[in-house]
Amino acid sequence: MLTTFAKRCIVSAGQQLRALHRSAPVLSDTLAVHRDTPENNPTVKFEFTAENLKRANDIIANYPEGYEVAAVIPVLDLAQRQHDGWLPLTAMHYVADLLKMPRMRVYEVATFYTMFNRNPVGKYHVQICTTTPCMLGGMGSDVILKTIEDELGIKPGQTSGDKMFTLTEVECLGACVNAPMVQINDNYYEDLTPGDMKEILDDIKAGKTPKAGPRTERFACEPTGGLTSLTEPPKGPGFGCMSDL
Ligand code: FES
Repeated sequence: MLTTFAKRCIVSAGQQLRALHRSAPVLSDTLAVHRDTPENNPTVKFEFTAENLKRANDIIANYPEGYEVAAVIPVLDLAQRQHDGWLPLTAMHYVADLLKMPRMRVYEVATFYTMFNRNPVGKYHVQICTTTPCMLGGMGSDVILKTIEDELGIKPGQTSGDKMFTLTEVECLGACVNAPMVQINDNYYEDLTPGDMKEILDDIKAGKTPKAGPRTERFACEPTGGLTSLTEPPKGPGFGCMSDL
């Protein structure tokens, strides 16, 4: 559908009409707004355990007086960890009260970052990055996503019937050098092939914890074929300076 502005541009262009195209919008798999559900509504009880309240206060104490609201992300994360990996509405309200900040400011943070889940998730939250480097790296995130869908029988935004797995499609998780990759709970699995992805999910189903990190011989994100630069000890200060000529 053309916007009024686009229509005016076409009319003013007279004879130089040309078709306007746009790609299909990709819609988020979660709602930004809250809707009361039996498990997420204002009557759900939430408060920190004594241990987590101490943790939260320790986190808040890291910030200067008057800037305690800056602790909102780690405190929300703590609340989410206490509540089986997701943040009910009342947990957001609790955090807002604890940090003496408007509830809306907490909603803004929790709806912006995909690390916060505002609905129940499975025991294992599989987050697949499908941003460009992961889409192009290795065999590509499309193939990995298809493998996950086939293995778990769910699509992005869905949770398996046994509540074991939730699948979410996310933007860059900062491990582009090891593309394609997925995050499962707190672990990154990188340099994936479909076979690796299947093995990881099979291990989890069998109650094992697959080793995190690259699935190649790489330790981290070093070059696959060995170093191509910085291969010898650095020269001392002054090397190559005008004073050496
Ligand atoms: S693009 Fe996938 S981790 Fe950066």
